[in-house]
Amino acid sequence: MKEKFYLTTPLYYVNDVPHLGHAYTTIAADVLARHKRAAGCDVHFLTGTDEHGQKVWKAAEQNNLSPQEYVDKIVVRFRDAWDKLGISYDDFIRTTDRKHETAVQKIFGRLLRQGDIYKGEYEGWYCVPCETYWNESDLAEDMEERRLCPDCGRPADRLREETYYFRLSKYQEPLLRHIEANPDFIRPEPRRNEIVQFVKQGLKDLSVTRTAFPWGIVVPEDPRHVVYVWFDALINYVSALGYLSADDGLFRKFWPADVHLMGKEIVRFHAVTWPCLLLALGLPLPKKIFGHGWWTVEGAKMSKSRGNVVDPLALSAEYGVDAVRYFILREVPFGVDGDFSMNSFINRYNADLANDLGNLLSRTLTMVEKYCESQVPSPKSAVMDDLSRELIGLIKETPGLVDKYMDELAFSDALTAIWTLISRANVYIEKQAPWTLAKNGEKERLALVLVNLVEVLTLVTALIAPFMPETAEKIKAQINLSGEKVVKGAPLFPRIQK
Ligand code: ME8
Repeated sequence: MKEKFYLTTPLYYVNDVPHLGHAYTTIAADVLARHKRAAGCDVHFLTGTDEHGQKVWKAAEQNNLSPQEYVDKIVVRFRDAWDKLGISYDDFIRTTDRKHETAVQKIFGRLLRQGDIYKGEYEGWYCVPCETYWNESDLAEDMEERRLCPDCGRPADRLREETYYFRLSKYQEPLLRHIEANPDFIRPEPRRNEIVQFVKQGLKDLSVTRTAFPWGIVVPEDPRHVVYVWFDALINYVSALGYLSADDGLFRKFWPADVHLMGKEIVRFHAVTWPCLLLALGLPLPKKIFGHGWWTVEGAKMSKSRGNVVDPLALSAEYGVDAVRYFILREVPFGVDGDFSMNSFINRYNADLANDLGNLLSRTLTMVEKYCESQVPSPKSAVMDDLSRELIGLIKETPGLVDKYMDELAFSDALTAIWTLISRANVYIEKQAPWTLAKNGEKERLALVLVNLVEVLTLVTALIAPFMPETAEKIKAQINLSGEKVVKGAPLFPRIQK
């Protein structure tokens, strides 16, 4: 039986159109999904949109649309972006899907009946942009005596409303034990340490319903309440699989998730609230929660008010989808913060894609055309030399290395390993000087060199395919191993003139 692999991205708020940050997580998930499929796994890749809550409700109001009209409009932008960026998701869930709403209501009712949810009153602070409750002691004060959210720095609201609480405190110890027994549960290490510290400070019960506005999943037991947007949204990871429905085959097959991917700012919801909720439901916990770093743009926080939001679609329309996919996963180790600048994008594009990869392909094919009538030769009695032996060694070693890095979600290391092979192959060309071999009539040695180069390219094509699916197809067509002759095409990545 095939090994199963279930991975998810966050559900993005539809208060705005997708930007580079959303594309980052989604592309990373896509690369992992494609890699696992190529490795023979039965993959289920889930993404989608988070459509309830006060923030989306406000955005709809500002756009003079009903919340439903508004979310219906924005969700199209997300689907369209993922199509254009080559995202191979298996399922796209919207939290306004009937199936999801039903699951949330069933879970709420079940927890209410078992005493894990109880009625009370919330008095305290709330940040709408982050949809997060805060204690007074968490907040800073500005000169106008406004209380500021420690995450986004914007003013928080004072709330006082009747609410239902989820007994988070009850699951503090079991959660801590699980984190301690499972070193890979929260990754990378700094995230794990932050969560351990946070849980050890003591978990307080969490307010899980709101009454101040109507845009959410109604609590059937008390219809003045709508479910708190985070409690609603987290459940998507099981509702999408049909949990608590008659059609729960996917749930039985794919739960628990192998990895939940997200930015570091929402690890707390995934590594504290979500596991406690699952413990209350008696469900197994996800195997890994990975919180990657944040992108800034030319040194500044990306924001609409600054006007520096990077549009991944504009970038890929100009330089190609694969260049964008490559850059964001190569430039910064996953897990660490990174800075996007046009300068670093162009430098990497020119150095790694136009030069290293582009040249290896075009030089190799040009030589096959020129010296072998476009047919990849098959050397018969070539004598192995040290340079060839070294290159073949690297060909053998690289796939295992890439696999290992992919398992650690070390995308940039995986790409570095692939590019080490590409660079070595370029050096191999220089050192072997096939043009001299041709001039001297050393046919067998020339054949060996060219065959080795084609082998590198074939392997590189397979290894980069999850990262750069279109490029992999183009290279394959040019090498044309299933046909008779190579078909040299246009440059893969024309140099960008600065
Ligand atoms: O938090 N750098 O949705 P959201 C890197 N609806 N990644 C970034 C980024 C940046 N500058 N900006 C956004 C929510 N992201 C909730 C999630 S899940 C059940 C509910 C990515 O629209 C990153 O993955 O605010 C981050 O976690 C996510 O977008 C936040 O998206």
